Amino acid sequence: MIEFIHPADDSEARLRAHLPSEAETLALGAALAQVLRPGLQIWLQGNLGSGKTTLTRGVLRALGHVGKVKSPTYTLIEPYSVSRLNLYHFDFYRFNSPDEYLDAGLDEYFSGDGVCVVEWPEKALPHLASPDLEILLQPQGNGRLAEFIGHTDAGQTCVIELAKVLRGANPTPVPG
Ligand SMILES: Nc1ncnc2c1ncn2[C@@H]1O[C@H](COP(=O)(O)OP(=O)(O)O)[C@@H](O)[C@H]1O
Ligand SMILES: [Mg+2]
Repeated sequence: MIEFIHPADDSEARLRAHLPSEAETLALGAALAQVLRPGLQIWLQGNLGSGKTTLTRGVLRALGHVGKVKSPTYTLIEPYSVSRLNLYHFDFYRFNSPDEYLDAGLDEYFSGDGVCVVEWPEKALPHLASPDLEILLQPQGNGRLAEFIGHTDAGQTCVIELAKVLRGANPTPVPG
C-alpha cells in the first residue's frame, strides 16, 4: 500500500509504503534504483533489524550487482561500481563517538558523484552534510513501514519519480 503526499509547491514530498515481507523491501529497493541520480545522498534511519541493509540490497541487485551485499557494519563502507553509477554503502553503527568519522577518512566519498547510502548517519553527526533523501524504516505488524522524505530539489524529484514507478507497479494506490 502506497501513500504519496505531494504539496503543490513540491516542498517536502513524502511517500509511505507498507512492506508486508522482505520481498516488498527488496522490490522497493528495485524501484528506488530506477530513480537514483549521481551524487545523491541518502540516509537510512531505523532501528537494528528494520530493513536498511535489505533495502540497499534491493537497490544493488536491481542495478545489476550479482555478488553478495554485505552489511558494512565492520568495514564502515562497501563500495560498488554498477551499471551506470558508483554506490557507496556506509554503516556507522559501531562509532562510539562521531569523531571516529573524521579518523575514518571517508569525506572523499561524500564529495564525489557516487550515490551515498548511509545507515546510522546520526552516529557521525555533526560531520555529515544533510541528505537529499531520508528514508525511515520501522516495524509495522509483521512487516515494515518505509517513509521517504525529500529534503533537497534532487531528493524531492526522487520521491516524486519513485511514486510514479510504484504506481506503475500498483494500479490502485491510495492517494495521499
Ligand atoms: N518488509 C519486511 N517484513 C519483514 N521482515 C523484513 C522486511 N524487510 C526486511 N526484513 C527482515 O528484517 C531483518 C533485518 O534486516 P536488515 O536489512 O539487516 O536490517 P538493518 O540493516 O536495518 O539492521 C532481515 O531478516 C530481513 O529479512
Ligand atoms: Mg544494516
